[in-house]
Amino acid sequence: MTLQSPPAPDPAATPTGTGAAGAPARTAILEARQLTKQYRLPGETVEAVRGVSLQVAPGEFVALMGPSGSGKSTLLQLLGGLDRPTSGDVLLEGEPIGRLSDEDATRLRRERTGFVFQSFNLVPLLNVVENVGLPFTIAGQDPRSGDLAVRIRDAIALVELTGKERHRPDQLSSGEQQRVAVARAIVTRPALLFADEPTGNLDFTTGLGILDALWRTCVDRGQTIVLVTHDAKAAAYADRVLVVGDGRIRDEIALGRREDHGAAPLIARLAQLGL
Ligand SMILES: Nc1ncnc2c1ncn2[C@@H]1O[C@H](COP(=O)(O)OP(=O)(O)OP(=O)(O)O)[C@@H](O)[C@H]1O
Ligand SMILES: [Mg+2]
Repeated sequence: MTLQSPPAPDPAATPTGTGAAGAPARTAILEARQLTKQYRLPGETVEAVRGVSLQVAPGEFVALMGPSGSGKSTLLQLLGGLDRPTSGDVLLEGEPIGRLSDEDATRLRRERTGFVFQSFNLVPLLNVVENVGLPFTIAGQDPRSGDLAVRIRDAIALVELTGKERHRPDQLSSGEQQRVAVARAIVTRPALLFADEPTGNLDFTTGLGILDALWRTCVDRGQTIVLVTHDAKAAAYADRVLVVGDGRIRDEIALGRREDHGAAPLIARLAQLGL
């Protein structure tokens, strides 16, 4: 799989750390090599991922799009180091994560990646500021301290929740709750953000608000995003769409970075490809 016209990385973005051996700045931030994942069940083996190789450039917004059961979530879990492949390698900033100890892999994941899931996983008793600051609290840092408080405020502003800081999740709409989850995932400024159907439970307009927020993290911060979706309207926000089918990457559609996220060009390309 080749990279097609990835956007220029934002020089202000977190450095990728791949330059240690003099590697060029365009080294993939994320790479998969011949990944497979089999689930062994009594009497059958499910081949959820069947040999996926891909590269994601720093600052790129990539969508993995495909129907239910095609292996998108399994692939995202492997790419994000939440699950181990049956065979193949995942390289995060050039580092093969499968060769790290569990402890080192956990640290790398915590420091370099963020996740947004379909279910928001907010803590009901904490307000917006406290939920967004949770990664710092878990790491033993004081989220009210100067620099961290600024980061929390910036993340809340980016998802346009300024003014709702003291609301608890049950005092927010579904879309607002998901925006809190996005803010929590980006507050640590991870190099790579993974999102699995982050708009899945939301109505169309609310879903667009989440996608706008994700897209802004790309544009404003040079954030790299890998988004899983079955929805062409969501995938149309990406710079590049990888079409997933039956555990493989079936096709790749380069959309380029566009201010207009209309799905028509993507739908036309999918139709051309017979998808
Ligand atoms: N823990 C598991 N044990 C056994 N089979 C699994 C497991 N997780 C996923 N599968 C199977 O692997 C295949 C891919 O599942 P996956 O969840 O990755 O699909 P998906 O593309 O994310 O689907 P959806 O759009 O419905 O979320 C499916 O056939 C599924 O039944
Ligand atoms: Mg899924």
